[in-house]
Amino acid sequence: MSTTDIGPKGPVGQVGGAVVDHIDHRTGAKTGLTWFLKRNIPGETSWFQTLGFAAMAVFGLQAVTGIVLAMYYKPDPASAYSSIQHITNDVTWGWLVRGMHKWGASAMIILVFLHMARVFIFGSYKYPRELTWVTGALLLVMVMFMGLTGYLLVWDQRAYWATVVAMNITASAPIVGPYIADVLRAGTNFNSETLARFYSIHMLVIPGGIATFIGLHLFLVSKLGIAEPPWSKRATRARRAEEASARAAARERQPQGRREVSVEPAPQSVTAEAGQ
Ligand code: HEM
Repeated sequence: MSTTDIGPKGPVGQVGGAVVDHIDHRTGAKTGLTWFLKRNIPGETSWFQTLGFAAMAVFGLQAVTGIVLAMYYKPDPASAYSSIQHITNDVTWGWLVRGMHKWGASAMIILVFLHMARVFIFGSYKYPRELTWVTGALLLVMVMFMGLTGYLLVWDQRAYWATVVAMNITASAPIVGPYIADVLRAGTNFNSETLARFYSIHMLVIPGGIATFIGLHLFLVSKLGIAEPPWSKRATRARRAEEASARAAARERQPQGRREVSVEPAPQSVTAEAGQ
């Protein structure tokens, strides 16, 4: 029994507890949340391991500010640019929400790259976290795609021509390039359907994909636990103990007569063989 269970509960506490128990009994939500949130992490965990969460927090902000922008934005070539001007100049706090969304996009891409660099430098992508890396790599592609599709939505000269260049580069890729460019442009030219398509991909398709893959990514992080940093004392001790037992096993395998000779540390090739 935890200390919070001591003493009588008020009516609100009783009803609240009953509701939580009712839901947990049917869904297992409390057990799931406990599994997700309460787990051991390595002693040497540092600020470096918060970059993934920072990227996720910015994604949440992008979703909220994006929803507000979508209430005023008009995905039509005749009114897209003026609706952006309206958001910036007339709508209450519009400039702030738009600014947060615009700078948030850059912040998210920078954070995701920093997070990936941290994972790479720490070697956290190694067994058993290969799938966490693969889901992360797909998230990176989707985040970059968010940047590309969002850029066009302003529909000014810069957005238009930058996207024309991006589509021409896409079309120059071998075999599938021209098809992908046609699908993105909704045809061979830029027109009102191109803007609607980019808007739909930016608003619905990729955020859905990112949310799904963040869920998968976090499931794997919870299931496998956070990797220890390379300077972890515990991991170094475990590695040394493993090497020592591999050396001992190699000595055991040698013929009786030669045992005393191999009391010396085993050569690298023998150690590697034993570790296989
Ligand atoms: C939207 C983008 C992403 C989000 C929101 C995200 C989120 C997270 C979070 C919250 C963690 C827990 C530990 C930490 O924060 O470092 C994590 C771990 C991890 N992420 Fe990501 N991530 C993203 C992109 C990526 C990318 C691009 C890669 C690599 C290609 C990647 C690979 C990994 C790996 C291997 C781990 C496990 C690290 C460990 O066990 O120490 N992630 N991610």
